[in-house]
Amino acid sequence: MEIKYISKSLEDTDKLAKVITENLFRGAVISLNGDLGAGKTTFTKSVGKYLGVKEEVSSPTFNILKCYFDGSMPLYHIDAYRLEDGVNKDIGLEEVIEGDGVCLIEWSCFIEEMVFEPLAIVINRLSPTEREFVITSDFKKYDKIMQAIKEIM
Ligand SMILES: Nc1ncnc2c1ncn2[C@@H]1O[C@H](COP(=O)(O)OP(=O)(O)OP(=O)(O)O)[C@@H](O)[C@H]1O
Ligand SMILES: [Mg+2]
Repeated sequence: MEIKYISKSLEDTDKLAKVITENLFRGAVISLNGDLGAGKTTFTKSVGKYLGVKEEVSSPTFNILKCYFDGSMPLYHIDAYRLEDGVNKDIGLEEVIEGDGVCLIEWSCFIEEMVFEPLAIVINRLSPTEREFVITSDFKKYDKIMQAIKEIM
């Protein structure tokens, strides 16, 4: 199943993140792909906010993985940008990807072999303020999320 959600503003992106977060569950994996500056971190910040994480979620580029434990579920935020081919990827990411919380993975395309049953989001930049979110679900466990997104469109 695929949904194309057009975001005309930061508020629209926040609204999408809100409805997805409200239907998240432990073990959910969201892959986020799209060019530099597409909005992957912006979307993840909103997910953190709606999980009740107090600290502001920031880009983990220099750490690869950041973990937040003070929300309603653990949030694991991976940025795989620096794990392009040729880099040693054996740093234990599988554990958090199939872990006890929700895992959001920016640039998941670089660690595809580790990404377990994701809700796949590709963000395309349409203009400085507009984004297209292409959301693909191949797994029944994300049906509620897909339904909830349709209801806000
Ligand atoms: N509708 C929109 N939705 C999301 N972000 C938007 C939107 N309009 C403008 N922006 C801006 O686009 C930028 C997105 O940057 P962000 O860091 O989230 O991108 P990214 O995909 O994480 O990039 P990177 O690959 O470098 O990590 C932000 O400055 C944000 O304010
Ligand atoms: Mg980012």
